[in-house]
Amino acid sequence: MAKKIEISPVDGRLGILLPGLGAVSTTFIAGVMLARKGALKPFGSLTQMQTIRLGKRDESKSPLIRDFVPLAKLSDLEFAAWDIFPDNAYEAAMKAGVLSKEHLGLVKDELEKIKPMKAVFDRNYVKNIEGENVKEGKSKLELANQLREDIRKFKQEKKLSRMVAVWCASTETYTEAQPVHATIESFEKGLAQSNPAISPSMIYAYAAIMEGVPYVNGAPHLTLDIPALGELARQKGIPIAGKDFKTGQTLVKTAVAPMLKMRMLGVRGWFSTNILGNRDGLVLDDAGSFKSKEMSKKSSLEYIFQPDMYPDLYKGMYHKVRIEYYPPKNDDKEGWDNIDIFGWMGYPMQIKINFLCKDSILAAPIVLDLALFMDLARRAKMSGMQEWLSFYFKAPMHAPSVYPEHDISIQHMKLKNTLRYLMGKDLITHLGMEYYDYWGEGKIEG
Ligand SMILES: NC(=O)c1ccc[n+]([C@@H]2O[C@H](COP(=O)([O-])OP(=O)(O)OC[C@H]3O[C@@H](n4cnc5c(N)ncnc54)[C@H](O)[C@@H]3O)[C@@H](O)[C@H]2O)c1
Repeated sequence: MAKKIEISPVDGRLGILLPGLGAVSTTFIAGVMLARKGALKPFGSLTQMQTIRLGKRDESKSPLIRDFVPLAKLSDLEFAAWDIFPDNAYEAAMKAGVLSKEHLGLVKDELEKIKPMKAVFDRNYVKNIEGENVKEGKSKLELANQLREDIRKFKQEKKLSRMVAVWCASTETYTEAQPVHATIESFEKGLAQSNPAISPSMIYAYAAIMEGVPYVNGAPHLTLDIPALGELARQKGIPIAGKDFKTGQTLVKTAVAPMLKMRMLGVRGWFSTNILGNRDGLVLDDAGSFKSKEMSKKSSLEYIFQPDMYPDLYKGMYHKVRIEYYPPKNDDKEGWDNIDIFGWMGYPMQIKINFLCKDSILAAPIVLDLALFMDLARRAKMSGMQEWLSFYFKAPMHAPSVYPEHDISIQHMKLKNTLRYLMGKDLITHLGMEYYDYWGEGKIEG
C-alpha cells in the first residue's frame, strides 16, 4: 500500500475568486447557493455526487469522494469576482438567462451581495465587448498590484483561510509565447514596461500566484502555458491547471474517439459545428478569440487517434471545427458531429451526433470540482501543473516530455487513482485475476 501524503486540514473558509462574472460564474455561484439550501442538487459534480471504489470489488467499499478526501464543504465557500460590467451576480445571472427567475429568486439576496471588482481589461485581447468597470494604472505591474490588493482584501473581509482562482472570463485572442514570457525576470520587466504581449489573463494569473492562490484557466487562451508563469508557480509551490473547460462537444469527442480506436475502426473525416447565442458566442465571433478556441478544440483527436502509429486508420483524417454565433439559441448550445468512419475491408459507415446542451449547466460543476480539487492539491503541497485534473479540460496541461492524455476514461481513472494515492490506498488496476481459475494454480484439474 502507498504511503499517505500529508494533507493539511481543511479548517476555515475557502474563497473562490472568479475573473469574469458571466454565464458560467453566475450559474456556478447560484448553483452552490441553491445546493447548500437543499433546494436543488449539484448534478454533474464528482466532488459532490460521485463515489470511489476502494479495495477489491467484493469488498463493497465505495464511499463518496467528498467523504474519502478532505475537501472544503459547500457551506464554507465564499465568492468574489471581477468583471468589466458592474452588474451584481443576480443581475448578471438574470441577463445570462441560464437558471430560471424562480430558482434565482431563492438566492437573490445572497447573489446581490456579490458585486464585481473592477477588471483588468484590454480591448486588443477581447474585441467584441466593452465595459466601464475597468481598472486604470500607469503600468501592467500597477494593475497586477491592484489585483493583489483585491485578493488580500477579500481574504481579510471574509476571514478566509485559503483561496482559489478560476478564470471564467471571456476568451482572449489567439497569441503565441514571446521572449517576454520566457522567464520570471523578463515577465516582471515586461509588466513594469507594459509589454503589449502580456494579456489581462496573465496579469490575473501572476497576481494570484504571487498571493499564494492556485489558478485555473477555464478558457483556451495562452496564460499558464508561458514558461514564466509555470516557473513562478513551481517556485512559489502553487498548483496551476488548464486549459479550457471540457463541457459539450469535446466531452463527447473524447468518449467516442477512444471507442472507435479501441475497435480499430478508421476515420476519414470528422466535422463538428456548434451554434450558440450567449456572450461567449459573441466573443467567439471574433476571428482571434475563435482561433484560441479552435486550436484547443482540435487538439484532442490528433492525440487520441495517434495517426503516426495507425496510418491506415487515421492518417489524413479531415477534422473541421466551426462555431457560429446565433443569438436565438442563447446558452442552449447545439452541437452537430458528422463522423465518416470505416470498418472491415474498408466499408464506410457514419455516425451523427446532435447534442442539445446548455453550456453553463455543463461548465458550472467543473468550476466547483476544480476549485475544491485545486485547494486539495495546495494542501497536499502539489505545485505546478496538475495533470491529474486533465479530465476537466479540452487542452490539458502536461509535462513537455509526454503527450497530453485526452481519452476521458483514462483521465477519469487517473483522477481517481490520484485521490487513492493521496490517501495511501491501493491503486485500482482492473486486473482481477484473483476471481478466476487459471492453469497452474487454479481449481481446474488439468
Ligand atoms: N460554458 C462552457 O461550456 C465553456 C466551456 C469551455 C470554456 N468556457 C469559457 O469560459 C469562459 C466564460 O464563459 P461564459 O459563457 O460565462 O461567458 P460570458 O461572456 O457569459 O462571461 C464572461 C464574462 O467575462 C467578462 N470579462 C471579459 N474580459 C474580462 C476581464 N479581462 N476581466 C474580468 N472580466 C472579464 C465579460 O464581461 C463577461 O461578463 C469563456 O472564456 C468561455 O470560452 C466555457
